[in-house]
Amino acid sequence: MFSENQPATFELVTVQSGVRSLRSREHGETFHPVVGPMTEAVALHVRQQRLVERAAATNGSFVIWDVGLGAAANAIAAVEALAEQADTGIRVELHSFDVNESALRFALTHAEDLGYLVPHVAAIQDLLTKGESRQANIHWRFHAGDFHATMSAGPAPHAVLYDPYSPQTNPEMWTLDHFTRLRGCLSPDAPCLLTNYTRSTAVRVTLLLAGFFVGCGHATGEKDQTTIASNDLSLIEEPLDAGWLRRVHRSTNGAPLRPGVQRPAAISLEDWARLSAHPQFRG
Ligand SMILES: C[S@@+](CC[C@H](N)C(=O)[O-])C[C@H]1O[C@@H](n2cnc3c(N)ncnc32)[C@H](O)[C@@H]1O
Repeated sequence: MFSENQPATFELVTVQSGVRSLRSREHGETFHPVVGPMTEAVALHVRQQRLVERAAATNGSFVIWDVGLGAAANAIAAVEALAEQADTGIRVELHSFDVNESALRFALTHAEDLGYLVPHVAAIQDLLTKGESRQANIHWRFHAGDFHATMSAGPAPHAVLYDPYSPQTNPEMWTLDHFTRLRGCLSPDAPCLLTNYTRSTAVRVTLLLAGFFVGCGHATGEKDQTTIASNDLSLIEEPLDAGWLRRVHRSTNGAPLRPGVQRPAAISLEDWARLSAHPQFRG
């Protein structure tokens, strides 16, 4: 948490669309560049996940993991879309994960500038003081701590809004071991989609080797495409195909992400054999 005697970890910046977003000074990353927090959260996560439609088709609670709560734009976009469905019987468990509360506290003190937080100040305060907030059909919980340790706390998700900075900033959240553990938290009884901002070949290879099906995600901001992953191929509109697989073979940076491996790195023969045998590329 920042104080008057320490340089603030975050600052507010105005992105290209004219709205405000947080920027981490420590990591040099703007949370939602170009289009801003709510436009990106709705396009990349709420619409692409088809949260409302999939929640309506789910028996029991629809479980969302919001990985990298940050300034809560992704979580609030989900809350707003799903709270409108309170009368339809949809029930939602929203599990937000963050290593600490500092971005959220900074955002709360700038709620008016950010705009999207204003109607949710009471819920955020509950989240910070009680670790949870209850609304008509949504139970929102906050799991503070390193996601490596906290991921086992939540029930198997139907949706993962994956937003913990980037492989350059926190590589430990993007490794093959990490995604293999995350894949192990999914249940065959809960078809799950993961949405993320990256379009990196190395991240896509890593997700595939961790056991996900992987596809091209919708464009947003400066990205012409993003990435979606799932435990159920039928949830992916545009799966990565044989042409993409051939490009990985030729790529100078197609190796999966493992700690201590110098980048760029081409894929090894062993990893290539595993990747090309993935069920996504069969027949
Ligand atoms: C880009 S910000 C997330 C923005 C957020 N989703 C929003 O809508 O405002 C990334 C967040 O990931 C969190 N994070 C990074 N590494 C983490 C880890 N190992 N475990 C949990 N949270 C982590 C950071 O603390 C930061 O708040």
